[in-house]
Amino acid sequence: MLAGAAAFANEATQRPIAPKPAIDNESATSTGPARDKIAQNTKARSGAAATATANAELKTADGKDVGTVTLTQTRAGVRLALALKGLPPGEHAFHVHAVGKCEPPAFTSAGPHFNPEKKKHGKLNAEGHHAGDMDNIRVPANGNLTLTVVDKDITLEKGKPNSVFQESGTAVVIHAGKDDYMTDPAGNAGDRIACGVITERAAKTGAAR
Ligand code: CU
Ligand code: ZN
Repeated sequence: MLAGAAAFANEATQRPIAPKPAIDNESATSTGPARDKIAQNTKARSGAAATATANAELKTADGKDVGTVTLTQTRAGVRLALALKGLPPGEHAFHVHAVGKCEPPAFTSAGPHFNPEKKKHGKLNAEGHHAGDMDNIRVPANGNLTLTVVDKDITLEKGKPNSVFQESGTAVVIHAGKDDYMTDPAGNAGDRIACGVITERAAKTGAAR
């Protein structure tokens, strides 16, 4: 399990990184020294900035529990630990979507891909990619998958444009088909077969060890 997770994490970090100077400038302006100070104070008070977590309980269109995705903030982005079960074997698109609402059976309530930077879909798209875009997951024949991936474009830090904690919420979605990493807006990935709202977990107290 650990070996597999490490391999996938490597794969994820090797994907091409699009330059985004305009966005960096923008976020530098909008955060500013005052906001930075608030962030630091919060961090000092709770000591929880590095251990902030969230999770998503995924369900299928017919309400079957298919496991959990646990999100943890790291310096490299948000780590998503997948512990999934009962999914159809094969390759499936896996994204963060822009609305924290999972209404079966179609899960269209979860909205489009989480896209705070107003880009196009897919890491192979010259105008891409969405912050919520991640690599396809491969479910083995037994339908169970344990895997860790990192999305460097999202954060658990509240108040940031790319935070998963938006007023509308966000959700994790798995599709019937695989993402072609290029076709806007959703990579031709087909139906949404599982969905889970990203929910904050209580901050760990005394997390230092
Ligand atoms: Cu999706
Ligand atoms: Zn996308």
